[in-house]
Amino acid sequence: MKDYRSLLKPKPIPAHVAIIMDGNGRWAKKRSLPRAAGHRRGAEIIEPMMDTAIELGIKAVSLYAFSTENWARPRTEVMGLWRLQEEFFAKKIDTMRSRGIRVLHSGSLKRLPPSTRRTIEEAVASTAKNRRMLLNFCINYGGRQEIVGAVNRWREQAGPKEEFTEARMERHLYTRDLPAVDLLIRTSGEYRLSNFMLWQAAYAELVFTDVLWPDFTSRHLCRAVYEYQQRERRFGGL
Ligand code: FPP
Repeated sequence: MKDYRSLLKPKPIPAHVAIIMDGNGRWAKKRSLPRAAGHRRGAEIIEPMMDTAIELGIKAVSLYAFSTENWARPRTEVMGLWRLQEEFFAKKIDTMRSRGIRVLHSGSLKRLPPSTRRTIEEAVASTAKNRRMLLNFCINYGGRQEIVGAVNRWREQAGPKEEFTEARMERHLYTRDLPAVDLLIRTSGEYRLSNFMLWQAAYAELVFTDVLWPDFTSRHLCRAVYEYQQRERRFGGL
């Protein structure tokens, strides 16, 4: 692969990159390993990816780690994912803190095992003052559920004559502290949004790659940003 890092221009750099980390199961199957091994490898590559994102000047990254639809998987896989995430947050929290990463969470933590929930909440609380980069973990997240929740939260506190607007919607989404998604990446050769960032990705540039998530490297991230820099964004204008 070309050295896309050296081909990048200083601008434009996407402010918010959203990633659908897909293909862990297929990665494991290709190696005759259990699916859990694919998820484990998928978790391991998050840290080097964050270093590259910081180096490139990306302000926010959202990672789709568990969708509201993923509950339909076998219980052993779901429980394995919670264990893995708990381990990840417990192990990586110091690194994230020292790198200036602010951890955010999108989704509902209610159904998660209490210990997993606690490690996520601790990661969010203990990095709240960090400003270098936002790392938003979308866990038990669904775009439609987020939109319905935002409308309901707005309605609870809206005056009787208050009109619902785009700005009001944005203030009630999980992503209220994040910029709009500029670049959305999906790995593993699937061409779908799968209920991810439905509102936020309205004008995002979409990059699909055949690479399976556990094989995704900093070079692939640079390549996606390079593709982004080649696109002409018109936001509906001319
Ligand atoms: C999709 O691959 C991936 C997931 C449903 C889970 C994503 C989880 C991780 C990358 C690791 C854990 C995350 C954190 C935050 C520590 P798939 O299982 O659908 O793959 P397949 O389509 O090849 O079966």
